[in-house]
Amino acid sequence: MREIIEEVEKRREQARLGGGQKRIDAQHAKGKLTARERLEVLLDEGSFEEYDMYKTHRCTDFGMEEQMFPGDGVITGWGTINGRPVYVFSQDFTVFGGSLSETHAEKICKVMDLAVQNGAPLIGLNDSGGARIQEGVASLGGYAEVFWRNVQASGVIPQISVIMGPCAGGAVYSPAMTDFIFMVKDTSYMFVTGPDVVKTVTNEIVTAEELGGASTHTKKSSVADGAYDNDVEALIEIRRMFDFLPLSSREQPPVIPTADAPDRIENALDTLVPDNPNKPYDMREVISRVGDEGDFFEIQANHAKNILCGFIRLNGSTVGVVANQPMVLAGCLDIDSSKKAARFVRFCDAFNIPILTLVDVPGFLPGVGQEYNGIIKHGAKLLFAYAEATVPKVTVITRKAYGGAYDVMASKHIRADVNYAWPTAQIAVMGAKGATEILYRSELGDPDKIARRTADYEDRFANPFVAAQRGFIDEVIMPHSTRRRVVRAFEMLKTKKVTQPLRKHDNIPL
Ligand code: HXC
Repeated sequence: MREIIEEVEKRREQARLGGGQKRIDAQHAKGKLTARERLEVLLDEGSFEEYDMYKTHRCTDFGMEEQMFPGDGVITGWGTINGRPVYVFSQDFTVFGGSLSETHAEKICKVMDLAVQNGAPLIGLNDSGGARIQEGVASLGGYAEVFWRNVQASGVIPQISVIMGPCAGGAVYSPAMTDFIFMVKDTSYMFVTGPDVVKTVTNEIVTAEELGGASTHTKKSSVADGAYDNDVEALIEIRRMFDFLPLSSREQPPVIPTADAPDRIENALDTLVPDNPNKPYDMREVISRVGDEGDFFEIQANHAKNILCGFIRLNGSTVGVVANQPMVLAGCLDIDSSKKAARFVRFCDAFNIPILTLVDVPGFLPGVGQEYNGIIKHGAKLLFAYAEATVPKVTVITRKAYGGAYDVMASKHIRADVNYAWPTAQIAVMGAKGATEILYRSELGDPDKIARRTADYEDRFANPFVAAQRGFIDEVIMPHSTRRRVVRAFEMLKTKKVTQPLRKHDNIPL
């Protein structure tokens, strides 16, 4: 028996070495953890159960039969994060650059199937040179099997991708179909074709960092939802985010007990909105003062900064927040912010996460660029996402709610459940100046008359009461009591049930 146990230990040791000490050292020299070290940070200590540790590739071309690494470049299994189950795969760059072979794909597929069957999230730690070149179509088939499962799992279990090294070719498309992508600054890249191919085909000269680094994908392309300074920080933040999410669409998000009183008064909110309606203020203040212990896990913080999206807790329960940010583009809705928020709203709706919407929006951003690039279609995404969402929706208008953007931002008309307004709210088709210039064009030569007309318009609409008289606003609330009011509203909505007509699926404008 001792010999048998020793043999098992020997095989395990060999598998744990991946592509060998030299390559492990090279990985460390780049400031990266190994695939196994990453799982140690991500999962609760001692919770990891590994599967398929001895699985090897079946390729016999290009001398591959001489190069067998147990595990075949990916570590798979399940463990726990703060006691809750999660399925994981972690690609091992020390084995053929983490490239995906047919068997590597089979290992990933096995944990994906278990995750869906057992209703627990999947986290993929990606560090891969793409399709295993020696395997050809067998590798491409393996990728497609993973892609297909990503789609089947979408909306069933949360899927999170962390990009922790180069991800080229097929390696980017599985993450692209997951719910969230996070990257590590300076050591991770994502591109369909790398800088060399780009140079050959289009003559553009670009570095890997410029083409597909964390900065590019969190600011420009919005492919990634966040970026962190190093592997450890990224993995700790993923643990933090995981605690906001339910295990699957069959379950409610976890409740994390809090010492933060649900009826906490925030007097500072009474003076947050400036007297001058054109002066900005930081909507993040409202979010952090309303949520439990000021904790806000923000998504896409560096992209479309005119809208804020992320998770908070209210009396322990997860709530998704969507909020116009008056500090950037005066909080206007544009193409990028509509797409960002629409995807977030859909995630929340798929996973039973109620939505709090904070509104200060002067309208859609005008401009030739916006129109040419399809603001009509992209703005419609957010409208569509809110209208189809059946989770509890509570809205607070802090200041402007103008025009179509008023309708879009979880108005009563598209079935928000509870709509509040601060006394500073202004709900109108447009701002007073713009309105009088259109209504009284013939009087534009008389500044006094126009000023009176503008003041009249302001008197009539620069308040929440016209909307409240019609029942579009349920109550005008004091800013200092916002936390108490929204906590109570969401408590009341805990039993919300909506029956929907039967259909295969809707057809959101893409
Ligand atoms: C097999 C690979 C590999 C791959 C890297 N390696 N990529 N082996 N298939 N796709 C191996 C290398 O041979 C090397 O082996 C080890 O991994 C480390 O690679 P290096 O090049 O030394 O590392 P580095 O300089 O850090 O560069 C990493 C890299 C580069 C940027 C990922 O290796 C690279 O460009 N690889 C090819 C990327 C690619 O074109 N992939 C195919 C995409 S097409 P040794 O033995 O020396 O350690 C695709 C189609 C799928 O994915 C489409 C589905 C829709």
